[in-house]
Amino acid sequence: VFIGDDPKIRRAIKLANLVAATDATVIITGETGTGKELIARSLHLQSTRRNRPLVSVNCGALNESILESELFGHVKGAFTGADHSRVGKFEAAHGGTIFLDELAEMKPPFQVALLRILQSGEYIPVGLSESRYCDVRVIAATNRNLGHLVESGAFRPDLYYRLNVICIELPPLRERRSDISRLIDHFLQVFGEEYGKGSIKLEPDAREVLLAYHYPGNVRELENLIRRAVILSEDGAVTLELLPRELVEPAGHGAIRPAREPSVQPCSTLAGFHEARDQALKAFEQAYLTTALRENCGIVSRAARRTKLSERNFHKKLSLYGIDFRAFRA
Ligand SMILES: Nc1ncnc2c1ncn2[C@@H]1O[C@H](COP(=O)(O)OP(=O)(O)OP(=O)(O)O)[C@@H](O)[C@H]1O
Ligand SMILES: [Mg+2]
Repeated sequence: VFIGDDPKIRRAIKLANLVAATDATVIITGETGTGKELIARSLHLQSTRRNRPLVSVNCGALNESILESELFGHVKGAFTGADHSRVGKFEAAHGGTIFLDELAEMKPPFQVALLRILQSGEYIPVGLSESRYCDVRVIAATNRNLGHLVESGAFRPDLYYRLNVICIELPPLRERRSDISRLIDHFLQVFGEEYGKGSIKLEPDAREVLLAYHYPGNVRELENLIRRAVILSEDGAVTLELLPRELVEPAGHGAIRPAREPSVQPCSTLAGFHEARDQALKAFEQAYLTTALRENCGIVSRAARRTKLSERNFHKKLSLYGIDFRAFRA
C-alpha cells in the first residue's frame, strides 16, 4: 500500500491511477527512498499486463560489457565464454513491463538501443544480426534531473522526449510532513505484526522527535527507524531511547554535522566503488545541507557563513538537490 494524503503526493497518486491501465511510458522521479519502485509496481499491478512479468533492470549497477547481454540476451557462441544462449531482460518481460531503475546512469550505446525498442519493439541479441521483437511497457525511474542531463549532453534528447510521456514526481518526505504521522502508524502496525509484537504504542516524546526530523533518506529511512525501534521494543512500547541518538540530540552549537550518517543503499548487487562513493557523497551533501538549513532556520546567508561555503555555492547545491530553504523557515 502506498501511504500518502498530503496534497503534494495526492497529485502524484492521482496521476499514477490515471495512467496505470494504459500502455503509456512513465518516468518516475524523486529522491532516494521516496517510493519510486513502489509506484512502478503498483502501475504494473493495475495494468492489463499484471499477469505477465515485471522485470527490473538497474541501469547503474551493471558495467557496459554485461549490460548489453543482460538487456538483450545473447546467442550461444556470441563471445568467448558464451556456452549457452541467454534470455535478455526485454525478452523475459515480453507481454509485461520492464522497470528501468536509475535510468540516468544508462550509457549512450544503450540509450540508442532503448530508443529503438521504444520506437519499434525491436532489439538485437548479442551475436545475432537480425532483430527480434518484444512487446513491453517501459517504466523508468531516476533520482536525477533528466532535463539537466539532456542540457549537459549526458542524456539523449530524443530518448528523453520519447520516454517523458508521463512524469510522476514524488516529493521528498520533508515536503509533505503531514504524511509522516500516517507513515509512522502504518509502519508500527506492519512491523508490530511482522515481529509478532501486536499493537505497538509510541511514546509521545518519541513521536515528537520522529515528526520533527527531516529524513534525507525519505520514507525508507523512516521505515528503517521504525523497524529498528519495533525490534528493540519491550512491553509493546517504543520509547525515545529506541530512536537513534542523532535524532534525539541534534547537533549542538559546535560544528554542523549531518543528523545521521549518510545512508549507504542496501542493494542486491554490490555497486561499483565510484558509483557507491558518489551515492554516499550525495547522501552526505544532502544531509549536511539540510542540517545546516535547519540549524539556521532556513536563512541561507547564515547557513553559508557557518558552513564556510559561499552563498552562491550554497544556493547552487540546494538547487542541485532540489532542497527548498523556505521549508526550513519556522
Ligand atoms: N508512500 C509510501 N507508503 C508506504 N511505504 C512506502 C512509501 N514510499 C516508500 N515506501 C517504502 O519505502 C521503501 C523505499 O521505497 P522505494 O524502494 O520504492 O524507493 P525508491 O524511490 O525506489 O528509492 P531509491 O531511489 O533509493 O531506489 C520501500 O520499503 C517502500 O515500500
Ligand atoms: Mg528504487
